Amino acid sequence: MCGIFGIVTKQEEELGKLLTAAGHRLSYRGYDSVGIATINEKGEIDLRKDAGKVSAVAEKYHFEEMTGKRGILQLRWATFGEPSLVNSQPHLDSEGLMVGAHNGNVVNNTQLRQEFINEGMTVRSSNDGESCVHAVERFINQGDSMLDAIRKAYNILEGDYAFVIGKASEDRLYAFKKGSGLVAGIGEDFTCISSDLPSILPLTREIVFLNDGEIVEFSANEVKLFRVLDGVEVTRPSETVIETMEVAQKGGYEHFMLKEIHEQPKVAEELLHLYDNLSDMHQILQKLSDARNIYFIGCGTSYHACISGAVFFNRLAKKAVFPVAAPQFIAQYGQSISKEDVGIFVSQSGETKDVLNAVEIAKNQGMKTICLVNVVGTTLTKITDHWLPLGCGYEISVPATKTFTNQLVAFLYLAYRLAGIELDDIRKLPAAMETVIQQSEVMIPEIIPFVNPWQDLYSLGYGLTYPIALEGALKLKEITYAHCEGMLSTEFKHGPLAAVTKNYPVLFSTVKEDIPIIISGINEVTCRGGFAIAIGPDDNRLNSNANHLIVCDFPQPEIASILQTIPLQLLSYHMAVARGFDPDFPRNLSKTLTVD
Ligand code: M6R
Repeated sequence: MCGIFGIVTKQEEELGKLLTAAGHRLSYRGYDSVGIATINEKGEIDLRKDAGKVSAVAEKYHFEEMTGKRGILQLRWATFGEPSLVNSQPHLDSEGLMVGAHNGNVVNNTQLRQEFINEGMTVRSSNDGESCVHAVERFINQGDSMLDAIRKAYNILEGDYAFVIGKASEDRLYAFKKGSGLVAGIGEDFTCISSDLPSILPLTREIVFLNDGEIVEFSANEVKLFRVLDGVEVTRPSETVIETMEVAQKGGYEHFMLKEIHEQPKVAEELLHLYDNLSDMHQILQKLSDARNIYFIGCGTSYHACISGAVFFNRLAKKAVFPVAAPQFIAQYGQSISKEDVGIFVSQSGETKDVLNAVEIAKNQGMKTICLVNVVGTTLTKITDHWLPLGCGYEISVPATKTFTNQLVAFLYLAYRLAGIELDDIRKLPAAMETVIQQSEVMIPEIIPFVNPWQDLYSLGYGLTYPIALEGALKLKEITYAHCEGMLSTEFKHGPLAAVTKNYPVLFSTVKEDIPIIISGINEVTCRGGFAIAIGPDDNRLNSNANHLIVCDFPQPEIASILQTIPLQLLSYHMAVARGFDPDFPRNLSKTLTVD
């Protein structure tokens, strides 16, 4: 997803290098183009940009030469206009007197673009970031100050986005957020803004969190906030953020994804400690216990965690939960929820637009809202009644791994507490994860030759392992580019079985109690020549019926289901690497999806 970064310094600095480094830090969000604009002491704008990776574009255009006292970096993930030099950001106004960039989507871009052309402005691209700049230009042309022009632009630019802009003749930059994340940082002799907190932390820990409806004006030594509504200044002290970015290094692993898979035992253990001492925990449990209906809402991997959470709540706490993909929540339940209901909104990034939309509807209907979010200080943590942290630290790799297992740990913890079950078993989970990682690292390479030649396969599960199978299929699709469909094992015979030919690979995840039903599925595949790979307990029935068994087990079935995630993560990782793909940055995908 697009990212923006802006900085104002006291002295003329080598901003090209600094902004390139910020670009690398933001690149985990996913992008296809990159650009930097610097403004020097004389008020000259130097703009260099193109489609391509940060390193390649930086090298081609010599970003390292760029100096100035103000700078803007943008990473673009194409929505309006194909990835190209002209559509790359930042953009200039008609006369080259202002430069700006945005992330997110301006949904009335097409109409505004035409209006700006009709008004005689020079519109060079079809990109909506350019419309943001021309929107400010329109009001500057009408005689407004920069601040007033931006206030008016805020009101005509529809959508969810964040925007930064500077005028060559001034000594400051301006930015605002409207539905997208944006934070400001204050350092010694500089201030900055960015789409996310992690990209600022190597420069400063003094952070000002911004709200929609506010414009930030930042100069070398101060950050000022103004209300869009009436231009009145808002006072908000900065906060000192204590997280560090050390974790955002590969630490000897070949990829972030592998590192993050191996971090699962540690972050699970930390989450359990965190929840034991969480001040909101009692209130959250009370709300869940009193709720008329409970909904778990998320997208992608986080949605799969919602399904697992619903199974845990049913089995342990005897509570029915509606797990639902966030956009469908509005269609399915938007009119039926009320203040007696509780929603847990699940998102690693805390910025997923589909989830934010669902929260808005929930709040309008008076529903009680809790979020389960990893990234500190994000929009979702601010707009819900309670924040359940995920405690994973930074997850850089686009495929979610440790955040998924910690989402399951969080739901399991809540279910145990609601049920009044002793937490002894769940405390054994981190050590069990460690064992499964070690065993899977040995066993997974053995099955790669049977799976890797195929561009098409299935991942099946039942009951507790149904959501795990869906998640395994998503991981495989996401980073190996093979089509892998996740499904309830019993549904396979209702149509997809037709896909099975000689050696066709089908993955079956199971816990002990479901072995009999999984074996029926296995046999339906093997008797038609397919290749069945079971992931489950070391059990004779699996051993003798499946073509291959990846052993993964735990006496307590809910915990066993969480562990089953790990072999599937490692299978997708090793397959992606064997295919020559970078698992951390899969094509077309983004870590943070701030668009509808
Ligand atoms: O940040 P979120 O958890 O809200 O993101 C939701 C999905 O975009 C995300 O889980 C996506 O499916 C992952 N990249 C899958 O690995």
